[in-house]
Amino acid sequence: MTDKLDEMIETAAAMVAAGRGVLAIDESTGTCKKRFDSIGVECTEQSRRDYRHMLLSTPDLGEHISGSILFDETLRQSSADGVPLTKIMQDNGIIPGIKVDKGAHPLAGFEGEKITEGLDGLRERLNEYYELGARFAKWRAVITISEDNPSQACIDANCHALARYAALCQEAGLVPMVEPEVLMEGDHDLQTAYEVTLLTLKTLFDQLFDQNVVLEACILKSSMVVPGADCPEQADVDDVAEATLDCFFNAVPASLAGIVFLSGGQSEIEATEHLDAMNRMGTLPWPLSFSYGRALQSSALKVWGANPQDNVKAAQAELSHRARMNGLATMGQYES
Ligand code: 13P
Repeated sequence: MTDKLDEMIETAAAMVAAGRGVLAIDESTGTCKKRFDSIGVECTEQSRRDYRHMLLSTPDLGEHISGSILFDETLRQSSADGVPLTKIMQDNGIIPGIKVDKGAHPLAGFEGEKITEGLDGLRERLNEYYELGARFAKWRAVITISEDNPSQACIDANCHALARYAALCQEAGLVPMVEPEVLMEGDHDLQTAYEVTLLTLKTLFDQLFDQNVVLEACILKSSMVVPGADCPEQADVDDVAEATLDCFFNAVPASLAGIVFLSGGQSEIEATEHLDAMNRMGTLPWPLSFSYGRALQSSALKVWGANPQDNVKAAQAELSHRARMNGLATMGQYES
């Protein structure tokens, strides 16, 4: 694994280099349809290709975007004039990544909880993805907060799967981006989100250790510690930044290559402000960056959807702007 290990360590460092972060466009076909429904665009293989090509060919996107997570279909697609999307990315200095989980499904025996599937046949799929140009891979686990949940069993099962997937990734030469998402849905308060996130991360790093995952070649994709969307008492930017960092200080080893955030339902501005606030709070053991889906795409999607033929440049300008703002936030230099 040594040759590949050096390559993975380099890839991981490049993904979270100062001023840069990851663009998540790995929506499954079902999720993509939901997004396209919201803008009145039919969701077909071609419209998904055109939309994602529009995003990935944004001029100078590589300045603030180090990598992009793709869905299986996208990794294999070419632009309308025949250029593979991975080539467009590589030419722009953007590392191709791939979502490899098979989605979150009901956890048998645990009402309201989910387990992420996709380990069967994963070794073969990862080898193929490496051949197709991917250099990192993402797996998302979902932790739900409610009156009775999460259960320890749900956290254990999901973290075990994350660690098995991460070990397989490193065997194949792909940097694992391990994503335990504590959902924002619900009326729980900031303290509850803190406790659940802390327990999840402690369990995750125990499991990564048990499965011999090399943390220097691994990226954590985390949710921020925020109160539930329906909690009457919302938190201000500094409270979120402090609670999230406190959680990491107590659960994330310093040897980890980096941490990136998902946006999880935060607005574009909130996601940028939170990241910026954390990066202003002094020297941290790991680079802290972004891997946003909605918080990078929302404005671009709306503008593109209004007229997919004519609005390509205007939509790209929206993405470019958000990428730049988040790039500044990775250095604590964002100004609204
Ligand atoms: P959001 O930023 O829209 O939450 O998406 C990021 C992601 O990749 C979730 O798995």
